[in-house]
Amino acid sequence: MARILNIISSPRGEQSNSIKLANAVIDRLREKEPASFVKVKDLTRNPFPHLEEVHLNAFFTPAEKYTDENRAAIQHSNQAIQEIMDADILVIGAPMYNFGISSTLKAWIDHITRAGITFKYTPEGPVGLITGKKAYVAVTTGGIYSSGDYKSFDFVTPYLKMALGFIGITDVTFIRGEGFAVSAVQETALDTAIDSIVV
Ligand SMILES: Cc1cc2nc3c(=O)[nH]c(=O)nc-3n(C[C@H](O)[C@H](O)[C@H](O)COP(=O)(O)O)c2cc1C
Repeated sequence: MARILNIISSPRGEQSNSIKLANAVIDRLREKEPASFVKVKDLTRNPFPHLEEVHLNAFFTPAEKYTDENRAAIQHSNQAIQEIMDADILVIGAPMYNFGISSTLKAWIDHITRAGITFKYTPEGPVGLITGKKAYVAVTTGGIYSSGDYKSFDFVTPYLKMALGFIGITDVTFIRGEGFAVSAVQETALDTAIDSIVV
């Protein structure tokens, strides 16, 4: 049985291409392992706050010295990290907003990237501590970034590869749904993306 954590970062519900594509990935994973369990974390319904002073204070305070304020500020970060630890597979939906990820998804990443907890510094450089996980990222875009003039303006896939790898999640497969705003391909964009899924 695989434990799947599905991260949603589009607020568009049933209209969302990244949710549909991520769900298609989950369907394929379930075909392989029917008893898989899926936990859905919709970041748009329960958004993580931008990092504020209270969060940073808590991040850099040892647990044995927590004040009540530290404890309250760090609770959601701890929970988000535990959810990842409890999963075997992450399936992340990532719509492109202004060439990068949404601020909703970025806020979650800011709360799960913690020195001493999900990565550590060593003399050889930083080492990720969340190991043994597989991640699939359903990246959806209005334009086309796999080839052509805009290829170098995709900051979603290189950023997520780096950010997930930094905390130890190095086995990442990107599934690209692209051209949702390009009239020549928008009707077939989702099916093309679903056909490209390999799990
Ligand atoms: C605020 C906003 C910004 C966007 N920025 C871009 C962009 O920079 N490049 C692009 O190709 N598409 C852009 N799009 C289009 C979305 O990436 C595309 O519609 C995608 O399917 C959205 O995913 P979703 O359907 O899961 O919400 C943007 C859409 C929105 C709403």
